[in-house]
Amino acid sequence: MNLQEFPRQIYTEFKTPIQPLCHLSKRLGGPNIYVKRDDLLGLTGGGNKTRKLEFLVADALKQGADTLITTGAVQSNHCRLTLAAAVKEGLRCRLLLEERNRKYNPNANGNHFLFELMDVEQLKVVPDGTDVVKEMEAMKQELELEGRNGYIVAEGGGNDIGAMGYMNCSYEILEQSDEMDLKFDHIVTASGSGGTHAGLVAGIHTSKADVSITGINVRRSKLQQEEKVYGIIKNLSNRLILQDIIPRKTVQCFDDYIGPGYALPSEETINAIQLLAQTEGILLDPVYTGKVMAGLIGLVKKGYFSKEDKVLFIHTGGTPAIYEYASTILNKENNPK
Ligand SMILES: Cc1ncc(COP(=O)(O)O)c(C=O)c1O
Repeated sequence: MNLQEFPRQIYTEFKTPIQPLCHLSKRLGGPNIYVKRDDLLGLTGGGNKTRKLEFLVADALKQGADTLITTGAVQSNHCRLTLAAAVKEGLRCRLLLEERNRKYNPNANGNHFLFELMDVEQLKVVPDGTDVVKEMEAMKQELELEGRNGYIVAEGGGNDIGAMGYMNCSYEILEQSDEMDLKFDHIVTASGSGGTHAGLVAGIHTSKADVSITGINVRRSKLQQEEKVYGIIKNLSNRLILQDIIPRKTVQCFDDYIGPGYALPSEETINAIQLLAQTEGILLDPVYTGKVMAGLIGLVKKGYFSKEDKVLFIHTGGTPAIYEYASTILNKENNPK
Protein backbone atom coordinates (compact mmCIF):
# COMPACT_ATOMS: atom_id res chain seq x y z
CA MET A 1 0.00 0.00 0.00
CA ASN A 2 1.48 3.31 -1.09
CA LEU A 3 1.07 6.16 1.40
CA GLN A 4 2.96 8.66 -0.79
CA GLU A 5 -0.16 10.65 -1.66
CA PHE A 6 -0.52 11.68 2.02
CA PRO A 7 1.51 14.67 3.20
CA ARG A 8 4.34 13.72 5.54
CA GLN A 9 7.06 15.66 7.36
CA ILE A 10 10.18 13.51 7.68
CA TYR A 11 11.51 13.45 11.26
CA THR A 12 13.75 10.36 10.93
CA GLU A 13 15.99 10.00 7.88
CA PHE A 14 16.92 6.35 8.48
CA LYS A 15 15.35 3.00 9.29
CA THR A 16 15.48 2.29 13.03
CA PRO A 17 17.71 -0.74 13.73
CA ILE A 18 16.43 -4.25 14.40
CA GLN A 19 18.79 -5.93 16.87
CA PRO A 20 18.87 -9.45 18.37
CA LEU A 21 18.42 -9.61 22.16
CA CYS A 22 20.76 -12.61 22.53
CA HIS A 23 21.34 -12.43 26.29
CA LEU A 24 17.64 -12.03 27.05
CA SER A 25 16.67 -14.88 24.68
CA LYS A 26 19.28 -17.12 26.32
CA ARG A 27 18.16 -16.14 29.83
CA LEU A 28 14.55 -17.08 28.95
CA GLY A 29 15.57 -20.27 27.08
CA GLY A 30 13.98 -19.10 23.80
CA PRO A 31 12.26 -17.89 21.65
CA ASN A 32 14.63 -15.70 19.60
CA ILE A 33 13.75 -12.17 20.65
CA TYR A 34 14.66 -9.08 18.59
CA VAL A 35 14.02 -5.41 19.22
CA LYS A 36 12.93 -2.71 16.75
CA ARG A 37 14.64 0.40 18.14
CA ASP A 38 11.89 2.98 17.69
CA ASP A 39 13.23 4.57 20.86
CA LEU A 40 15.92 5.94 18.49
CA LEU A 41 13.45 7.79 16.22
CA GLY A 42 13.93 11.49 15.53
CA LEU A 43 12.62 14.53 17.48
CA THR A 44 13.50 15.09 21.13
CA GLY A 45 14.07 11.81 22.95
CA GLY A 46 12.59 9.52 20.26
CA GLY A 47 9.69 7.07 20.57
CA ASN A 48 6.66 5.92 18.62
CA LYS A 49 4.86 9.27 18.50
CA THR A 50 7.49 10.59 16.09
CA ARG A 51 6.20 8.31 13.31
CA LYS A 52 2.60 9.40 13.91
CA LEU A 53 3.52 13.08 14.09
CA GLU A 54 5.11 12.90 10.62
CA PHE A 55 1.58 12.58 9.21
CA LEU A 56 -0.30 14.56 11.87
CA VAL A 57 1.92 17.63 11.70
CA ALA A 58 1.87 17.53 7.89
CA ASP A 59 -1.94 17.63 8.16
CA ALA A 60 -1.74 20.55 10.62
CA LEU A 61 0.55 22.49 8.28
CA LYS A 62 -1.79 21.78 5.34
CA GLN A 63 -4.60 23.31 7.39
CA GLY A 64 -2.54 26.43 8.10
CA ALA A 65 -2.19 25.81 11.85
CA ASP A 66 0.10 28.04 13.90
CA THR A 67 -0.34 26.14 17.20
CA LEU A 68 -0.51 22.44 18.10
CA ILE A 69 -2.85 21.46 20.94
CA THR A 70 -2.73 18.02 22.49
CA THR A 71 -3.27 16.07 25.68
CA GLY A 72 -1.74 13.30 27.75
CA ALA A 73 -0.84 12.26 31.28
CA VAL A 74 1.43 14.49 33.40
CA GLN A 75 4.55 12.63 32.15
CA SER A 76 3.27 12.23 28.58
CA ASN A 77 5.79 11.22 25.90
CA HIS A 78 3.24 12.19 23.28
CA CYS A 79 3.05 15.74 24.68
CA ARG A 80 6.87 15.98 24.72
CA LEU A 81 7.13 14.89 21.09
CA THR A 82 4.22 17.05 19.87
CA LEU A 83 5.96 20.03 21.48
CA ALA A 84 9.26 19.02 19.87
CA ALA A 85 7.58 18.83 16.44
CA ALA A 86 6.03 22.26 17.03
CA VAL A 87 9.46 23.70 17.89
CA LYS A 88 10.95 22.16 14.74
CA GLU A 89 8.18 23.59 12.54
CA GLY A 90 8.22 27.05 14.17
CA LEU A 91 4.73 26.54 15.65
CA ARG A 92 3.55 27.14 19.22
CA CYS A 93 2.19 24.36 21.43
CA ARG A 94 -0.37 24.16 24.25
CA LEU A 95 -0.69 21.03 26.38
CA LEU A 96 -3.55 19.67 28.46
CA LEU A 97 -2.19 17.36 31.18
CA GLU A 98 -4.55 14.87 32.83
CA GLU A 99 -3.66 13.66 36.35
CA ARG A 100 -4.14 9.93 35.64
CA ASN A 101 -3.04 8.11 38.81
CA ARG A 102 -0.23 10.67 39.24
CA LYS A 103 -0.50 14.23 40.54
CA TYR A 104 1.02 17.09 38.59
CA ASN A 105 4.33 18.20 40.11
CA PRO A 106 5.63 21.53 38.78
CA ASN A 107 9.18 20.52 39.81
CA ALA A 108 9.11 17.09 38.17
CA ASN A 109 11.98 15.76 36.09
CA GLY A 110 11.55 13.57 32.98
CA ASN A 111 9.16 14.79 30.31
CA HIS A 112 7.93 17.64 32.49
CA PHE A 113 11.42 19.11 32.58
CA LEU A 114 11.49 18.88 28.76
CA PHE A 115 8.10 20.66 28.43
CA GLU A 116 9.68 23.61 30.21
CA LEU A 117 13.03 23.38 28.46
CA MET A 118 11.31 23.48 25.04
CA ASP A 119 9.27 26.48 26.23
CA VAL A 120 5.72 25.16 26.05
CA GLU A 121 3.31 28.06 25.60
CA GLN A 122 0.67 26.73 28.01
CA LEU A 123 0.32 23.77 30.40
CA LYS A 124 -3.23 23.23 31.62
CA VAL A 125 -3.66 20.57 34.31
CA VAL A 126 -7.00 18.78 34.74
CA PRO A 127 -8.15 15.93 37.02
CA ASP A 128 -8.48 12.31 35.87
CA GLY A 129 -11.69 11.66 33.98
CA THR A 130 -11.96 15.16 32.45
CA ASP A 131 -13.56 15.34 29.00
CA VAL A 132 -10.25 16.13 27.30
CA VAL A 133 -11.77 16.41 23.82
CA LYS A 134 -14.11 19.16 25.03
CA GLU A 135 -11.26 20.89 26.88
CA MET A 136 -9.05 20.88 23.79
CA GLU A 137 -11.92 22.30 21.69
CA ALA A 138 -12.17 25.14 24.24
CA MET A 139 -8.40 25.74 23.95
CA LYS A 140 -8.77 25.92 20.16
CA GLN A 141 -11.61 28.45 20.51
CA GLU A 142 -9.50 30.59 22.86
CA LEU A 143 -6.82 30.72 20.18
CA GLU A 144 -9.40 31.67 17.54
CA LEU A 145 -10.42 34.66 19.68
CA GLU A 146 -6.77 35.77 19.48
CA GLY A 147 -6.85 35.37 15.67
CA ARG A 148 -4.79 32.19 15.80
CA ASN A 149 -5.32 28.75 14.27
CA GLY A 150 -4.96 25.74 16.55
CA TYR A 151 -4.74 22.13 15.36
CA ILE A 152 -5.86 19.44 17.80
CA VAL A 153 -3.57 16.40 17.70
CA ALA A 154 -5.67 13.47 18.96
CA GLU A 155 -4.65 12.02 22.34
CA GLY A 156 -1.57 9.82 21.80
CA GLY A 157 -1.79 10.54 18.05
CA GLY A 158 -4.27 7.66 18.23
CA ASN A 159 -6.33 8.17 15.09
CA ASP A 160 -6.25 7.01 11.46
CA ILE A 161 -3.83 9.78 10.38
CA GLY A 162 -1.32 8.92 13.13
CA ALA A 163 -1.70 5.19 12.47
CA MET A 164 -0.26 5.69 8.97
CA GLY A 165 3.10 6.19 10.70
CA TYR A 166 2.92 2.60 11.92
CA MET A 167 1.76 1.25 8.56
CA ASN A 168 5.04 2.73 7.33
CA CYS A 169 6.85 1.05 10.21
CA SER A 170 5.44 -2.35 9.25
CA TYR A 171 6.71 -1.86 5.67
CA GLU A 172 10.10 -0.92 7.09
CA ILE A 173 10.12 -4.10 9.21
CA LEU A 174 9.26 -6.27 6.19
CA GLU A 175 12.04 -4.63 4.13
CA GLN A 176 14.52 -5.21 6.95
CA SER A 177 13.35 -8.84 7.27
CA ASP A 178 14.26 -9.33 3.59
CA GLU A 179 17.59 -7.53 3.97
CA MET A 180 18.47 -9.56 7.08
CA ASP A 181 17.04 -12.81 5.66
CA LEU A 182 15.01 -13.15 8.82
CA LYS A 183 11.30 -13.98 9.00
CA PHE A 184 9.48 -12.81 12.11
CA ASP A 185 6.65 -14.99 13.43
CA HIS A 186 5.33 -12.47 15.97
CA ILE A 187 5.41 -8.76 16.67
CA VAL A 188 4.73 -7.61 20.25
CA THR A 189 3.78 -3.97 20.83
CA ALA A 190 2.24 -1.62 23.38
CA SER A 191 -1.47 -0.92 22.93
CA GLY A 192 -2.40 2.41 24.50
CA SER A 193 -4.21 5.05 22.43
CA GLY A 194 -4.08 2.29 19.80
CA GLY A 195 -2.50 3.92 16.72
CA THR A 196 0.73 1.95 16.88
CA HIS A 197 -1.09 -1.37 17.15
CA ALA A 198 -3.68 -0.42 14.48
CA GLY A 199 -1.06 0.79 11.99
CA LEU A 200 1.03 -2.36 12.40
CA VAL A 201 -2.00 -4.62 11.87
CA ALA A 202 -3.10 -2.65 8.80
CA GLY A 203 0.40 -2.62 7.30
CA ILE A 204 1.06 -6.32 7.86
CA HIS A 205 -2.41 -7.27 6.58
CA THR A 206 -2.20 -5.13 3.42
CA SER A 207 1.26 -6.62 2.73
CA LYS A 208 -0.23 -10.13 3.10
CA ALA A 209 2.64 -11.04 5.42
CA ASP A 210 2.21 -13.99 7.77
CA VAL A 211 3.15 -12.31 11.07
CA SER A 212 0.90 -12.31 14.15
CA ILE A 213 0.66 -9.08 16.12
CA THR A 214 0.09 -9.04 19.87
CA GLY A 215 -0.82 -5.89 21.76
CA ILE A 216 -0.02 -5.55 25.46
CA ASN A 217 -2.49 -3.19 27.12
CA VAL A 218 -1.31 -0.43 29.42
CA ARG A 219 -4.68 0.92 30.56
CA ARG A 220 -7.86 -0.73 29.26
CA SER A 221 -9.48 -4.17 29.42
CA LYS A 222 -8.92 -6.63 26.58
CA LEU A 223 -12.30 -6.09 24.92
CA GLN A 224 -12.30 -2.29 25.29
CA GLN A 225 -8.81 -2.06 23.84
CA GLU A 226 -9.45 -4.45 20.94
CA GLU A 227 -12.55 -2.43 19.98
CA LYS A 228 -10.54 0.80 20.20
CA VAL A 229 -7.78 -0.53 17.95
CA TYR A 230 -10.28 -2.03 15.50
CA GLY A 231 -12.14 1.31 15.35
CA ILE A 232 -8.92 3.03 14.22
CA ILE A 233 -8.37 0.26 11.64
CA LYS A 234 -11.88 0.83 10.24
CA ASN A 235 -11.30 4.60 9.93
CA LEU A 236 -7.89 3.95 8.37
CA SER A 237 -9.43 1.50 5.88
CA ASN A 238 -11.95 4.20 4.87
CA ARG A 239 -9.24 6.85 4.53
CA LEU A 240 -7.15 4.54 2.32
CA ILE A 241 -10.22 3.16 0.50
CA LEU A 242 -9.04 -0.40 1.20
CA GLN A 243 -11.02 -2.98 -0.80
CA ASP A 244 -10.06 -5.86 1.45
CA ILE A 245 -11.76 -5.81 4.89
CA ILE A 246 -9.25 -6.34 7.72
CA PRO A 247 -10.82 -9.01 9.97
CA ARG A 248 -11.54 -8.20 13.63
CA LYS A 249 -9.64 -11.33 14.71
CA THR A 250 -6.34 -9.80 13.57
CA VAL A 251 -6.54 -7.53 16.65
CA GLN A 252 -5.32 -9.48 19.68
CA CYS A 253 -4.69 -7.84 23.07
CA PHE A 254 -3.67 -9.00 26.53
CA ASP A 255 -4.70 -7.05 29.63
CA ASP A 256 -2.91 -9.23 32.20
CA TYR A 257 0.18 -7.01 32.50
CA ILE A 258 -1.33 -3.60 33.34
CA GLY A 259 -0.51 -4.06 37.03
CA PRO A 260 -2.14 -1.69 39.55
CA GLY A 261 -3.20 0.76 36.81
CA TYR A 262 -2.07 3.19 34.14
CA ALA A 263 1.39 4.62 34.95
CA LEU A 264 1.63 2.40 38.04
CA PRO A 265 4.27 -0.31 37.54
CA SER A 266 3.85 -3.84 38.92
CA GLU A 267 6.67 -5.96 40.33
CA GLU A 268 6.88 -7.69 36.92
CA THR A 269 7.26 -4.30 35.21
CA ILE A 270 10.17 -3.34 37.46
CA ASN A 271 11.76 -6.79 37.01
CA ALA A 272 11.50 -6.45 33.22
CA ILE A 273 13.09 -2.96 33.31
CA GLN A 274 15.98 -4.24 35.44
CA LEU A 275 16.42 -7.37 33.34
CA LEU A 276 16.70 -5.45 30.04
CA ALA A 277 19.08 -2.89 31.54
CA GLN A 278 21.27 -5.63 33.05
CA THR A 279 21.27 -8.13 30.16
CA GLU A 280 21.13 -5.84 27.11
CA GLY A 281 21.88 -2.30 28.32
CA ILE A 282 18.49 -1.22 26.96
CA LEU A 283 16.31 1.25 28.88
CA LEU A 284 12.59 0.57 29.24
CA ASP A 285 10.02 2.75 31.00
CA PRO A 286 7.50 1.89 33.77
CA VAL A 287 4.40 3.15 31.91
CA TYR A 288 4.66 1.43 28.52
CA THR A 289 7.67 -0.59 27.39
CA GLY A 290 8.40 -2.12 30.82
CA LYS A 291 4.83 -3.46 30.89
CA VAL A 292 5.10 -4.72 27.32
CA MET A 293 8.35 -6.54 28.09
CA ALA A 294 6.76 -7.97 31.26
CA GLY A 295 3.94 -9.18 29.00
CA LEU A 296 6.33 -10.67 26.47
CA ILE A 297 8.20 -12.51 29.25
CA GLY A 298 4.89 -13.63 30.79
CA LEU A 299 3.75 -15.01 27.42
CA VAL A 300 7.09 -16.84 26.98
CA LYS A 301 6.54 -18.46 30.39
CA LYS A 302 3.00 -19.49 29.41
CA GLY A 303 4.33 -21.17 26.22
CA TYR A 304 2.55 -18.71 23.89
CA PHE A 305 5.56 -18.76 21.51
CA SER A 306 7.48 -21.82 20.33
CA LYS A 307 11.17 -22.02 21.26
CA GLU A 308 12.21 -21.51 17.60
CA ASP A 309 9.92 -18.51 16.97
CA LYS A 310 11.37 -15.16 16.03
CA VAL A 311 9.63 -12.50 18.09
CA LEU A 312 10.05 -8.78 17.42
CA PHE A 313 9.51 -6.43 20.38
CA ILE A 314 8.72 -2.87 19.29
CA HIS A 315 10.60 -0.49 21.58
CA THR A 316 8.19 2.44 21.47
CA GLY A 317 10.41 4.74 23.57
CA GLY A 318 9.45 6.53 26.77
CA THR A 319 13.02 6.71 28.03
CA PRO A 320 12.96 10.36 29.28
CA ALA A 321 10.19 9.47 31.76
CA ILE A 322 12.32 6.92 33.63
CA TYR A 323 14.30 9.61 35.43
CA GLU A 324 11.12 10.64 37.26
CA TYR A 325 10.72 7.02 38.44
CA ALA A 326 14.36 6.38 39.47
CA SER A 327 13.62 5.61 43.12
CA THR A 328 10.74 3.26 42.23
CA ILE A 329 12.97 1.40 39.80
CA LEU A 330 16.03 1.21 42.06
CA ASN A 331 14.36 0.62 45.44
CA LYS A 332 13.18 -2.77 44.32
CA GLU A 333 14.31 -5.33 46.91
CA ASN A 334 13.83 -8.41 44.77
CA ASN A 335 16.62 -7.77 42.25
CA PRO A 336 16.47 -10.46 39.50
CA LYS A 337 20.28 -10.68 39.18
C1 LIG B 1 6.61 5.14 25.08
C2 LIG B 1 5.25 4.79 24.60
N1 LIG B 1 5.02 3.54 24.20
C3 LIG B 1 3.79 3.16 23.77
C4 LIG B 1 2.74 4.03 23.75
C5 LIG B 1 1.41 3.53 23.30
O1 LIG B 1 1.26 3.71 21.92
P1 LIG B 1 -0.17 3.98 21.32
O2 LIG B 1 -0.70 5.20 21.98
O3 LIG B 1 0.06 4.15 19.86
O4 LIG B 1 -1.01 2.80 21.60
C6 LIG B 1 2.92 5.36 24.16
C7 LIG B 1 1.79 6.30 24.18
O5 LIG B 1 1.81 7.34 24.76
C8 LIG B 1 4.21 5.75 24.59
O6 LIG B 1 4.46 7.00 25.00
